Amino acid sequence: MSFDECIHRLNNNDVCILPSETVYGLACSALSTEAVQKVFKLKGRPSSNPLIVHVLDHRDASKICLTNSLSEKLSHFFWPGPLTLVLPKKNCVPPEVTAGLNTVGVRSPSHPKFREILSSVSFPLAAPSANKSNKISPTSYGDVKDEFGQDSPPIIDGGTCELGIESTVLDLTTSPPQILRLGMCTKDQIEDVIGIKIRDVNEITSSHVTNSDSKKSPGQMSKHYCPDTPLILYRTLDKLIENLPSIKNEIIILPKKNHNLPVNNALTFYLSEFGDPTEIAHNLYHTLHLSDKLNKKKIHAPLLDNKNSIFSAINDRLSRASSNCL
Ligand code: TXA
Ligand code: MG
Repeated sequence: MSFDECIHRLNNNDVCILPSETVYGLACSALSTEAVQKVFKLKGRPSSNPLIVHVLDHRDASKICLTNSLSEKLSHFFWPGPLTLVLPKKNCVPPEVTAGLNTVGVRSPSHPKFREILSSVSFPLAAPSANKSNKISPTSYGDVKDEFGQDSPPIIDGGTCELGIESTVLDLTTSPPQILRLGMCTKDQIEDVIGIKIRDVNEITSSHVTNSDSKKSPGQMSKHYCPDTPLILYRTLDKLIENLPSIKNEIIILPKKNHNLPVNNALTFYLSEFGDPTEIAHNLYHTLHLSDKLNKKKIHAPLLDNKNSIFSAINDRLSRASSNCL
């Protein structure tokens, strides 16, 4: 789709798929109830799960929500980038966007094509990940093209998404603030910027969110981001190795190449050369998409050694994608 066609559609209450630095987004005017309803319908998304609204900067954010000194500091440091801030919403944001909540999630994407489009329209853009509800977010043009089949809205091709997993969602309406979704922007980085210890909902509930917390962050159901092929997760690499003899003609996804496993009976994908967390995140969803397309019986993968906060975000996505953990 051309840039002009995209702007025309957005100005006419229609939806487009845009690339962001995290994952592709299904975008529309955040101020148009009609357009937002199209997004929910296309995704098959429950109306109880709010959308993130995208803006160019903190000044534009203040038009749709009540900003404060913490959002000021955080946006100064992390925007444009993979941090969504949850703040009290202003009346101009339709309740459909926020699933009736009195807060709104807002972020400033860094992808140049997304920013160019934001600068060419006069409203903020609501954009959930461009996948059917509960499926894996697309991180490449090829993956996003497959997602909606014949019903696909036109796509702006932005190549492969640099980061590869969705933004960190930080709720600034609680004291202390709390992380509702882990992402590439880490707890330590956030604490360094605001000088306050924050909570991490995911830590408290050991990666799966409890019922009361899921009301706070309606999108964080424990089963989410699923490939069609069952993903069997192993707590450690050793556990996976123990099970290797029973894995035949299926898929194994490993974090790095130098594992040297005797995996002759399985098709093996590696998420990175040497275990670099940003490389693993970048490749994660695309590798799951690729594996899914091969129509094997199962996909097997170990959780990552939890030494790094980006690894926690990756483990969070792996857990939500898995049907079983051994
Ligand atoms: O990286 C991203 O955030 C991507 C790109 C396209 O920006 N978007 C994305 O949107 O991942 P989505 O809709 O797939 O996930 C939005 C998450 C959900 O877990 C939702 O519940 C949470 O953000 N969220 C949105 N608004 C919220 C609010 N007001 N309060 C609490 N959680 C909110
Ligand atoms: Mg999503």
